[in-house]
Amino acid sequence: MHTPRSARSTPQRTAFALAATVLATLVLGNAIPAASAAATPQAGPSLFDCMKELRNNLKTVATTLSDPTQTELTLEAVTTMQVYALTAKPMAPSNLEQVPEDERDAHQNAFRADMARLLGELAALEIDLLEGRREAAMERVRGSLFKLREAAHERFQEQG
Ligand code: HEM
Repeated sequence: MHTPRSARSTPQRTAFALAATVLATLVLGNAIPAASAAATPQAGPSLFDCMKELRNNLKTVATTLSDPTQTELTLEAVTTMQVYALTAKPMAPSNLEQVPEDERDAHQNAFRADMARLLGELAALEIDLLEGRREAAMERVRGSLFKLREAAHERFQEQG
């Protein structure tokens, strides 16, 4: 039987529902009155949660990317990574307190800039896939995306 277009669950819909949930949690988290906010210490995903989602979805990307029959799954995982990169972008890097006080603003900006770079890489990955450049997409994951992740972890993870 024909399923009406509006009732189908597409990757876009799933990603949108996820983005809406993450954003609603962030917005509502800010709107919680002070008294109940005290009882709800951490509304929404933490930086660590975002990183776990990035890792899990990157695994999906890596295992599906070479298979043209799995492009929808790859695109869904890339889109989910974009949502979590966007969610992590305004957060504080784990080692902010370890940086001298007069360098903290610059360090925070550098973290945000690297998250924006990650979003750029993920957008480029999505465009490569949508326009049929599978080899370029694989090269991006192995090359610039991997390098960005390694350099960012070196710079922003807490030491010791
Ligand atoms: C595809 C890209 C990325 C993946 C898959 C990823 C994955 C992860 C994972 C699995 C962890 C947990 C600890 C570990 O195993 O090392 C982590 C931690 C962390 N990542 Fe990423 N990451 C990515 C990109 C980035 C970027 C671009 C930044 C900074 C702009 C960043 C900043 C951090 C920080 C600060 C931590 C420590 C979090 C904490 O202390 O709880 N990551 N990441």
